[in-house]
Amino acid sequence: MKITGTFNKSEQFFVVTGENVFIELEQFLNDFCILPVRIFILVDENTRHHCLPILLSHSVILKNAEIIEIPSGEKNKSIETAVQLWNALMERRADRHALLINLGGGVISDLGGFISSTFQRGIPYINIPTTLMAQVDAAIGGKTGLNFGDIKNQVGTFYNPKAVFIHSGFLKTLSKDHIANGFAEVIKYALIEDAILWNKLEKLLLHESILKIPSNNLLWEKLVDRSIKIKYDIIVNDFHEENIRKLLNFGHTFGHALEAMSMRNFNPGLHHGHAVAMGIIFESYLSFKQTGLANEDLNSIVSLILLNYEYFPIQDSGSEQLIEFMSHDKKNKDHNIYFTLLQRPGKAIIDQRCDSELIQDALEYYHQLR
Ligand code: GLY
Repeated sequence: MKITGTFNKSEQFFVVTGENVFIELEQFLNDFCILPVRIFILVDENTRHHCLPILLSHSVILKNAEIIEIPSGEKNKSIETAVQLWNALMERRADRHALLINLGGGVISDLGGFISSTFQRGIPYINIPTTLMAQVDAAIGGKTGLNFGDIKNQVGTFYNPKAVFIHSGFLKTLSKDHIANGFAEVIKYALIEDAILWNKLEKLLLHESILKIPSNNLLWEKLVDRSIKIKYDIIVNDFHEENIRKLLNFGHTFGHALEAMSMRNFNPGLHHGHAVAMGIIFESYLSFKQTGLANEDLNSIVSLILLNYEYFPIQDSGSEQLIEFMSHDKKNKDHNIYFTLLQRPGKAIIDQRCDSELIQDALEYYHQLR
């Protein structure tokens, strides 16, 4: 699949998946490097070991690229690592025409995108996502950033990559946990936009765990393509998240708060996708109470999630911390917490203010699932 479009009024952008991905990448690099260009590849220790050799074996142009490595893990999506990266580019005398290639999961694409958007007021970058999470979400759409003051993605920019190249073979290098992590976003896409996909997931996963589907199954390529298409159609119409892009936040208000809370209290914290899966439960309950989601749909969503993700208990004392974290959500207005909620599977609605009694009620619902 190749989707091409114009973002942000004038910026050209494309996403490539499928068997020609490395041919398309080499073509892109060829066109990009008409004049000599310094190319930097950002990796972590995992992608350096598992993915970089695959990438280099498919490219002549990248043989001369310079590699910059950071440690893996959400804890490194930080201002300290950003400073190290700015220094690394300065020490290597990168200029404005340099190209940064982000080879990795969500941390690499978020942080690498942020560095690209700020270094010398912006250098071009491309994403080559290697995890399911990054392939279906983080690498697409130009949200860059880092965590700050314990809050997820508190500092960042909207800065679109020139292109995204998705090689499904990288999924074979992933642990089952990483597959489950990205899959939460696929469930989200189905629930906000695609009732047919949701029905298929229900048939597939109400009786069998997602972890039973091997990462080389062709199903993944189809799910990645469908997810990208849903996200793409939303972000070309609302790059800066002024309206419909908020649809993509379903499950994330609670999910980000739970992830931030778990990162504060444990090392490592919950995976983003695991937290979003719990967020989908919480926000589906809000949807049942506020926006007309049917009880049977709520039950089916909760069953599917709990069959595929371990329930994450929160202490009663954690509720206050969660509400405090949710109060920092970027969708909020006038000190009220706003959610994206479901009317039914496949149809979501943005800008839903939920009062504190309803949020307490949803927390109680969440607790009693334990
Ligand atoms: N991950 C949500 C978005 O890109 O808007």
